[in-house]
Amino acid sequence: MEVVIVPDAAAGGELIAGAVVDLLRRKPDALLGVATGSTPIPVYEALAATVRAGGVDVSQARVAQLDEYVGLPAGHPESYRSVVLREVVEPLGLSPDAFLGPDGAAHDVQAACEAYDKALAWAGGVDLQLLGIGTDGHIGFNEPCSSLASRTRIKTLTERTRRDNARFFGGDVDQVPHHVITQGIGTILDARHLVLLATGEGKADAVAATVEGPVAAIVPASALQLHPHATVVVDEAAASKL
Ligand code: GLP
Repeated sequence: MEVVIVPDAAAGGELIAGAVVDLLRRKPDALLGVATGSTPIPVYEALAATVRAGGVDVSQARVAQLDEYVGLPAGHPESYRSVVLREVVEPLGLSPDAFLGPDGAAHDVQAACEAYDKALAWAGGVDLQLLGIGTDGHIGFNEPCSSLASRTRIKTLTERTRRDNARFFGGDVDQVPHHVITQGIGTILDARHLVLLATGEGKADAVAATVEGPVAAIVPASALQLHPHATVVVDEAAASKL
């Protein structure tokens, strides 16, 4: 695992956007695994700026969602499908057809999970998976004690994660769904390159446990230690407990 400490979130965004641009120049139809939450926004902004400046051709690029809430009505602004369309697909000018995601509104959620794992494999696998990290060390929505070999499946959110994410639902924790679909840890580890970005002091404990602790299901992100090509980009605040 490579750990890169950057001065701030903007520098982390520039660094990772640069890695995505390098990838797209080598492989124009690369499949990018994208994360939601506040942390990756500087990456998407830096990438969109490069695209607008004509620095990279994204006409063949494809994106894949990491996770999704279960049960939000279609088109809900906080469904991760809506978030990825708004923050990644539209600013980069990608075709919505180039976008893979699990169906959080499916009647048969288990079948939707299995279909998503298959879709990722049929698409040739994720080339670069961008990850954030929860304050409890979760990646995607793999909460603590998720199996390190897990595949895409339905999970129940912890109260802590629902409280953390309430800010996206007008601060009302009751509006945050209880259930989600998430790529499993095993699914995430299938990506060719994992890039985790963590910024701010609130992530310092989770980052220290991920990088310096044992590989353990209680800290899902520690599974990155098992991956042959994992990069952890942290600002100085998130690195403060390393
Ligand atoms: C959610 C997402 C994760 C994300 C995490 C942290 O739980 N499912 O993919 O990493 O939030 O979000 P933030 O970056 O806003 O702290």
